[in-house]
Amino acid sequence: MPDFVGSIDAGTTSVRFMIFNERAEVQASHGLEFTQFFEHPGWQDQDAHEIVDKVNECIDVAVRQLEESGKGSKKDIKVIGITNQRETTVVWDKKTGRALTRAIAWPDTRTTHTVRQLAEKSDKGTDAVKLETGLPLSTYFAALKLRWMLDNIPEVKKAHDDKNMLFGTVDSWLLYNLTGRKVHYTDASNASRTMFMDLRKQTWDPKLCDFFGIDMDILPEIKSSSEVYGTVAEGTLQGVEIAGLIGDQMGALIGQKALTPGEAKNTYGTGAFLLYNTGDKVVDSKNGLLSTIAYKAGPNAEPVYALEGSIAVCGSAIKWLRDSIGLIKEAAEVGELAEGVEDTGGVYFVTAFSGLLCPYWDDTASGMIIGMTGYTDKRHIARATIEAACYQTQAVLAACEKDSGVPLASLQVDGGMTNSDIIMQIQADILGLTVERPEMRETTALGSALLAGAAKGLFGWDLSKPETLKDVNAAGKQKFEPSISAERRKELLHGWERAVERCKAWNE
Ligand code: G3P
Repeated sequence: MPDFVGSIDAGTTSVRFMIFNERAEVQASHGLEFTQFFEHPGWQDQDAHEIVDKVNECIDVAVRQLEESGKGSKKDIKVIGITNQRETTVVWDKKTGRALTRAIAWPDTRTTHTVRQLAEKSDKGTDAVKLETGLPLSTYFAALKLRWMLDNIPEVKKAHDDKNMLFGTVDSWLLYNLTGRKVHYTDASNASRTMFMDLRKQTWDPKLCDFFGIDMDILPEIKSSSEVYGTVAEGTLQGVEIAGLIGDQMGALIGQKALTPGEAKNTYGTGAFLLYNTGDKVVDSKNGLLSTIAYKAGPNAEPVYALEGSIAVCGSAIKWLRDSIGLIKEAAEVGELAEGVEDTGGVYFVTAFSGLLCPYWDDTASGMIIGMTGYTDKRHIARATIEAACYQTQAVLAACEKDSGVPLASLQVDGGMTNSDIIMQIQADILGLTVERPEMRETTALGSALLAGAAKGLFGWDLSKPETLKDVNAAGKQKFEPSISAERRKELLHGWERAVERCKAWNE
């Protein structure tokens, strides 16, 4: 039987376990949604234990699928990797391993006030720690969420002060649980989203920890993204080594094989995230982008950096249309509705449910639908929802081009929304650029599988030699070419920017 690599993809609203072969063909896969708690406006909590339980369930079902298909058995899974929603903050009791409170998910904006307070402490305002971390102070990052927990949840504060608390993002939490609480590690890509790590040194920075008022002992050890961290302690995959850890957006960059400077990808998941590989250079964005670690392909490898444009709301707006408004029954309907009209009839939907991240950075911005008349029907709203992600991608890409000075030739895309042809066509029209979609779009999971496989020397995979991956996910790409005039594009973009201006500062 051939060897396989498994990948846990723990996203914002669902988790998945996928099993790949040497060419990255999916052998088996199972995914499950988990609960999001929206208890107050702007809040989004998750039950960290439910995430672990659902991951284990996905592993069981996918492995059963593999065995029932006759393609192989669990013994053929040689190694697994983990990729995850980033920034989501988990704290747990060091002795019992129980979470001390619900995890605060990355889109949560309850920390707006904390951001203000910290910005006031520094003469650089929200750029207080940007030089060291590559990140502006924002509700988005883990340090703010942890600070909020310490200020507002007495049990967390007590455990922290009693030195009985561990902190982690979802990668650390899963690794800790899967290894039977043996290891408390994170990788450099996830660590680069906490605001505690020095981007250039990839070590926790005491000055940053001091700035946020946290004890450094609660932090996981920073490892590379590709090495053996431990073995699965129990369950279906007991004894299998875990050898890949990577933030999901960086995972997708690797899964797209965008391994050389100047290559970029955009992933349309819960949010949308455009990453532009800058190689060994930390580019300090002047246009509202983040500087981040893309990956570190082994304990002795040099880190690869990226510029990132993070868009908080993408697929979650479609989920909102389905679950909160009832406009559609299935997510796929949004494309069908949008296809029924030529355009939005002048409607813009600024999906600023978590304020606006890159490149606008306004955590007081509010969601807004504007431009409606009696003519507007649900098809226009569906189309405007899709267009919101496409306009924000355009704004991020424009910022990337300004920062790098190099225009992109085409955009590589992946993630759930890219299954829709109409959405990809709208994206190509709004960008005025070719959009390229791979046949196998689970690139996030693939990224962590590649890191895990490479750590074990499987299949000759080596991230520093892209030619070793030439047979991986090599099936032809589908291209979408722009089909509207430059003048029409300009008009549309102008409308979008006007709409954005109107929703800014609404919650001040
Ligand atoms: O930074 C948040 C990001 O990692 C979440 O990714 O795919 O769950 O939207 P996704």
